[in-house]
Amino acid sequence: MSADNFLEVRGLKKDFDVGSPTLFSRAPRNLHAVDGVDFTLHRSEVIALVGESGCGKSTLALLLMGLEDPTDGKVILEGRDITHLNDHERKDLRRKIQMVFQDPYESLNPTQTIEEIVTEPLAVHGITNSAERDDRVKKAMEDAGLKPAEIYLKRYPHELSGGQRQRVVIAAALVLEPEIILADEPVSMLDVSIRAEIINLLAELRITRQIAVIFITHDLGSVGFFADRVAVMYLGRIVEIGTMLEVLEKPQHPYTKALLSVIPVPNPRLRRERIILQGETPNPIDIPSGCRFHPRCPVAFAACKVSDPPMVTISRTHQAACLLLVK
Ligand SMILES: Nc1ncnc2c1ncn2[C@@H]1O[C@H](COP(=O)(O)OP(=O)(O)OP(=O)(O)O)[C@@H](O)[C@H]1O
Ligand code: SF4
Ligand SMILES: [Mg+2]
Repeated sequence: MSADNFLEVRGLKKDFDVGSPTLFSRAPRNLHAVDGVDFTLHRSEVIALVGESGCGKSTLALLLMGLEDPTDGKVILEGRDITHLNDHERKDLRRKIQMVFQDPYESLNPTQTIEEIVTEPLAVHGITNSAERDDRVKKAMEDAGLKPAEIYLKRYPHELSGGQRQRVVIAAALVLEPEIILADEPVSMLDVSIRAEIINLLAELRITRQIAVIFITHDLGSVGFFADRVAVMYLGRIVEIGTMLEVLEKPQHPYTKALLSVIPVPNPRLRRERIILQGETPNPIDIPSGCRFHPRCPVAFAACKVSDPPMVTISRTHQAACLLLVK
């Protein structure tokens, strides 16, 4: 493993047993929520993980956090296999990987003050020295943009705006000084006007605290130029990954091209022809044969129904899984 392969994800799968299809059948049914995901995250890198609702983004995040057990595959952090941990090891991992959820209203206990909320992770991890605790809480809050921290400490979540609440959630994640933040749709519940502020905050943290971020979103347009790389997920798998510029300017997978074509672009010269995908995303219980995207792909051909496309290397940093790219 190279020193830069901070987090490695190899062949990661998660099936959920969703029971038998009818009352009379006992055959188990598996829903393939994450179906063979491979990628590497570098130190203080930002990867945007993009895909439609139900493609497995949150399940992937829960697997990385150790909150779900994978059916197959591996997660390796700094050379150490963290795929199956006991409770004690998992608690230790929390210091390194923290998650920020979508809904800042549900993530915060309404009966706790902001001070109690941000202090709690320290107590859980046995950091009880009051001077160290107060320093860490103040720094985490101020790094999350709640400045000066003192004016927020005794307030309750309902006294804050949505954006401030999401900053409290981020402060509670920062207080353990994590090396990775998994941000699962962190701005989708916020007003459009404050989305950019939270994205800028995450962009700053990767510089000031050297934190790597996996930024999960269903909206490729919300990523802007904040991410270093973009991973596009479809039905449990990454179908394209590359630098922001590669994916935005030279998308290779027909699914990525369709996602990009519907992003509003103010400059008419840069506007792309809209590609409207036919049909709904298939059910992850019955993944289509061959290329999983073939029932909706506007450029599918006969082989797509039978051959599962391999990841094809376009450049050192850019790969996509489409038979049209196989030479
Ligand atoms: N605990 C579970 N039991 C059964 N099925 C599940 C479970 N959790 C997720 N799923 C299913 O797995 C698939 C992937 O779900 P997931 O929540 O990971 O998608 P997502 O990409 O995060 O979607 P969204 O953008 O709507 O948040 C979906 O079909 C979902 O219904
Ligand atoms: S392999 Fe075929 S169906 Fe799949 S994305 Fe490429 S052209 Fe479309
Ligand atoms: Mg989700």
